[in-house]
Amino acid sequence: MAGDGATGGAWWQKGVVYQIYPRSFQDSNADGVGDLPGIAARLDYLVALGVHAIWISPIFPSPMADFGYDVSDYCGVDPLFGTLDEFDRLIAAAHERGLRVILDFVPNHTSDQHPWFVESRSSPDSPKRDWYIWKDPKPDGSPPNNWVSEFGGRAWTFDPTTGQCYYHAYLKEQPDLNWRNPLVQDAMLQVIRFWFERGVDGFRVDAIHHLFEDKELRDNPPNPDWREGMSPARRVLRTRTMDQPEVHDAIAAMRRVSDEYDDRVMIGEAYLPIDRLMAYYGVDLTGFHLPFNFHLISALWTPTAIAALIGAYEAALPSGAWPNWVLGNHDRSRVASRLGREQARVAAMLLLTLRGTATIYQGEELGMTDVPIPPELVQDLWEKNVPGLGLGRDSVRTPMPWDGTLHAGFTAGHPWLPIAEANRVINVAAQQDDPSSMLALYRGLLALRRSEPALSVGAYVPVAATDRVLAYERRFHERRLLIVLNFSRQPLPFEMVDGRGLLLSTYLDQPQQINAPMVLRAHEGVIVQMP
Ligand code: NOJ
Repeated sequence: MAGDGATGGAWWQKGVVYQIYPRSFQDSNADGVGDLPGIAARLDYLVALGVHAIWISPIFPSPMADFGYDVSDYCGVDPLFGTLDEFDRLIAAAHERGLRVILDFVPNHTSDQHPWFVESRSSPDSPKRDWYIWKDPKPDGSPPNNWVSEFGGRAWTFDPTTGQCYYHAYLKEQPDLNWRNPLVQDAMLQVIRFWFERGVDGFRVDAIHHLFEDKELRDNPPNPDWREGMSPARRVLRTRTMDQPEVHDAIAAMRRVSDEYDDRVMIGEAYLPIDRLMAYYGVDLTGFHLPFNFHLISALWTPTAIAALIGAYEAALPSGAWPNWVLGNHDRSRVASRLGREQARVAAMLLLTLRGTATIYQGEELGMTDVPIPPELVQDLWEKNVPGLGLGRDSVRTPMPWDGTLHAGFTAGHPWLPIAEANRVINVAAQQDDPSSMLALYRGLLALRRSEPALSVGAYVPVAATDRVLAYERRFHERRLLIVLNFSRQPLPFEMVDGRGLLLSTYLDQPQQINAPMVLRAHEGVIVQMP
């Protein structure tokens, strides 16, 4: 039994986080891009959905080479999204409704337009020179080492002004900060304070596993498993550019700042194997409250693989550490596209009944699918740099469909990415009053999670995993809830389930039969109260 005795009292432990990709949530000024007043206008939707917190992807001034993940001013709001005043009003409106607000913090890199980098690149003697990672090219003019950018091409860009190269883990428009420089650390910690003072409840910290690179800038070893068709970035194993030991002191410093304030949360974005991820909770839990657990996104979708993943993750958690689960985000293919619409319902039940904080990506509650983007509409520079491999992320960032009108109620202008008919028909207005819709399922699951401590903070007890069915219990004191998920299209009798205790089915109807054993229908998940 995992989690027995865990207190689970904090809002970020009991709560469910909803990720807003602001460009695509709600436009209020007809420029085709979502904005802060748009989010404010939809807060009541989020309250009715039943989530506890929103995490808003970057809203800071940015040239938008990576759609906000290239920040040119950490303490402002990009005019595309609104103003600081509008942000303050949004926080106040969210708090009035009991919703927490989490912002994105992008510490690994700035925009190349950030005044720090502009100054750094101006001269080798610039006081900001050492704020970034500069190195001479090799004598033959080639880059200092073999490091590769995540988004294609070399991770070094030659800068003719000073004849040196700068390092960027991502786009050349996103130069990496040098976190070994204490002035960089201080300046970045001030940014966290700035937003906490404004009432922000926490941060999702971007690309944290990239924060440090090997001090001696040694080559990465080749990846023996790389094959044609894989991302060029995977040609090397990133042993010198990712997950370096120094990162943990930097995270602890961020955490100390968050601990200066009441009740804040620090969430870290790190795509790492489970054993490595655990280190991001920090020594004696002085690191992130929640290092994002993305393993459901890449796991093989079979009951045995998922049961093994849950078991391995639960077993690896340091004592007292709080788990968390993620099914999708603005970088990954949508659940309904990965697993199909029926299994997406089962996946929703899994996400919202596992032990730990759940994060929902906007639109998953509608069952949105990936939208194929024709070449002439591609926005993501990753896709433009490395075309044809399906690495671009535009298809998962298309606007929220609010209603059945031409631009789905998202904008009165022309949307920055196409909406696609398949997503338009599953709009919020259409699902709102349909008692069997995906939206109704998410609402039902979130409502149950709010009312059942067994689901929000209870222990996790594995029950069964066959080739078709996954079953586990969540327990809180005497209360026992059994969750049974049918991963197959075959109806399955499940002897342990007595239909009389049914609390929720992914079909959202009344129990088909009230006698044990219950037959699970195709792709059905159920939550059953045990006697
Ligand atoms: C991870 C973010 O989720 C992604 O969208 C971004 O491109 C990279 N980090 C770089 O900031």
